[in-house]
Amino acid sequence: MKSTFSALTLGAFLLTEPTLAFQLTDPPSHVVIVGIDGLSISALHSAMQDGLAPNMQRLRREGSWSDRARAVLPTVSGPNWYSILAGTGVEMHGVDSNNWVRERPRLLGTDGPCVPQPTLFTLLRVAHPSTTLGAFFEWPMIRTLLEPTSALNTTLLAPDHESIPAAAAFLRTARPELTFVYIGEVDEEGHRSGGGTRQQRAVAVADEQLGVVMAAVETLEKPMLLVVSDHGRDVLGWDHGHVTEGEVNTQFIAWGHNIRANHRIISPLRNMDAAAIALTSLGVHPPLQWTARPVPEIFLSTPLPLALSAPPSTASPHPWIYHPGVPTAQESCVSTFRLDVPVGFLGEARVSWTVTFDRGSFVCGIVAGGLAVPILAMLVVAARKVFGKRVGRWVETMRRRVDGPEYEPLSSPLSGLELGE
Ligand SMILES: *[C@@H]1O[C@H](CO)[C@@H](O)[C@H](O)[C@H]1NC(C)=O
Repeated sequence: MKSTFSALTLGAFLLTEPTLAFQLTDPPSHVVIVGIDGLSISALHSAMQDGLAPNMQRLRREGSWSDRARAVLPTVSGPNWYSILAGTGVEMHGVDSNNWVRERPRLLGTDGPCVPQPTLFTLLRVAHPSTTLGAFFEWPMIRTLLEPTSALNTTLLAPDHESIPAAAAFLRTARPELTFVYIGEVDEEGHRSGGGTRQQRAVAVADEQLGVVMAAVETLEKPMLLVVSDHGRDVLGWDHGHVTEGEVNTQFIAWGHNIRANHRIISPLRNMDAAAIALTSLGVHPPLQWTARPVPEIFLSTPLPLALSAPPSTASPHPWIYHPGVPTAQESCVSTFRLDVPVGFLGEARVSWTVTFDRGSFVCGIVAGGLAVPILAMLVVAARKVFGKRVGRWVETMRRRVDGPEYEPLSSPLSGLELGE
């Protein structure tokens, strides 16, 4: 009887106490999460190299960072921001695209209504009713991801250049426990102009805005600043949604009170872990359904696990540990070909060609890129064969309709003769 009782007690203990919860001594007392939409690792590094991202550089130097924080699949904004705010994967929260609406979730539609996962704001509000919470964002979908009866004290839906100063003012005056600040322009510019200088300029602007938030964060007592992104970008910097290294890996920085400085995070990491780090720091255990983990390694008060304190090597004696420095085979051979065809009032037609090999070399990348050219040429020839005449007739009809009958060639009694009819 006694043993049954202790087994039951243990079971209850396991259900209420997540096994990976850890006691954090000397935790931060204010957490600010800055989310930069669609910031690719390569865009960030080229901006840092050109001296265009001094704030990001400073946070990495003074904090714990990773270039390999995994995004949730698909590498699309809605699913990833919901995971970052609600600590669970798509399989739990049901937001598998940007087309999700709370009342009509796609993923769980056949099983009855999807149960929206509580965000970290609600979990904090329930645990500490008198806490002060805020969210500032330019993308309207973020609002749909937050609970309709929001636990937040302040939400602001406004363009970056308005929401960032508002967030900084909120940090200085309300001194909130948790604030989410979203920067949208890097992703927007990527979709507009690809991975060129204009996207780099957008990264530089985002870095300046991050600086505005940082200045306000530094006025708080025992602050922690987390910088996350929802997804990276494809090789050319236009798009995302797939599973290439550039899209799946995101930037992650933790900076502030009790955070290890100049430390590259070695533990396996997901962008959504920010939710668990924030919640744990503010004294609330992540719920059991969460996939997000608090990543003890970033805290100075937690000793580095022995296995993690060893420098990363190619031949890892601990294969379960993800070593950031080692490139994978996929990275060495991803070929992307992209062609944007303007079709007048219909907008842009886009042709994308992405080839990913499990293993390979630079050569197969060139072969794959080279293959795309004849294939596209064949498509163009075929399209002209199939549609050419029809389009020609249509253009002629439209021209007549626009020009009117007075421009019809005059019919001459001789024309039949000239044609030899
Ligand atoms: C806002 O914050 C205060 C504490 O600063 C708290 O007492 C109050 O309940 C919060 N209001 C809402 C609507 O969450």
